[in-house]
Amino acid sequence: MSDSDDDVPQLSAATLAALQEFYAEERGGLVQNTAPVDKFSVGAVEEDWRMSQFWYNDATATRLAEEVIQEAGKGGRLVFFFCNVFTLPLPAGQHVAVVAFYIPYLLHSRIACLSAPSVYQKLKQGVVEGSGGVSAVVLEYDRRFATYGQEFVFYDYNEPLSLPEDVAPQSFDIVLADPPYLSEECLTKVAQTVKYLAKGKVLLCTGAIMEEHAEKLLGLKICRYIPKHNKNLANEFRCFTNYPSSLLS
Ligand SMILES: C[S@@+](CC[C@H](N)C(=O)[O-])C[C@H]1O[C@@H](n2cnc3c(N)ncnc32)[C@H](O)[C@@H]1O
Repeated sequence: MSDSDDDVPQLSAATLAALQEFYAEERGGLVQNTAPVDKFSVGAVEEDWRMSQFWYNDATATRLAEEVIQEAGKGGRLVFFFCNVFTLPLPAGQHVAVVAFYIPYLLHSRIACLSAPSVYQKLKQGVVEGSGGVSAVVLEYDRRFATYGQEFVFYDYNEPLSLPEDVAPQSFDIVLADPPYLSEECLTKVAQTVKYLAKGKVLLCTGAIMEEHAEKLLGLKICRYIPKHNKNLANEFRCFTNYPSSLLS
């Protein structure tokens, strides 16, 4: 593992000072938040630096959720199961016709949020147009997200292919990933998981310094859009895609 301090996204000095002050106050019981928390709101689970957690701000989480919905195929795909017309003989020598009918069935597009719980939360909040037509899964190392039930899949990038059997290969219309560390070693392993999960489309959010590796490992191109976090990070963050993105390019 090479999750050295250099690889971890860094907070600016001012943000760090403000955060330390906040934690000091909190320890002293001065900060009391009694407001009820929406379990899908971004920040419902507090950031833990030990897991390199830096949540997007609400605007970025929303923008990325819109992007993955659009690229996964908004509203899912409508498929029809249909029955044939056929006749049944009756005992009296007559026949009765059975009429054909169609059963419409909505197949939801599938989105994987790999180490990107804020986008999963935003998709589930019901505030982004089209979110009702997609299904989302959050693959995460932090077991606090197990509160999301079957949509939580435990994932450790060090074991890129140790996934439950019901997570089928190439079963997601789009995979969005935000690896915990800015290192080639981490991205190489995350890329293995991404390739396993994705039917094709990949959206990666990580440090701009990972551009060369993102291209080499996953064929991704840097986007102009700049993702923003709740706390200012010293590292420049960017999005990378392997498809022409209307929102991000
Ligand atoms: C840089 S943060 C990305 C979060 C994203 N900005 C968001 O707002 O959803 C890195 C993520 O990797 C997760 N993580 C930490 N250690 C991990 C590991 N060993 N394997 C996979 N994911 C891990 C963290 O819990 C965190 O959600």
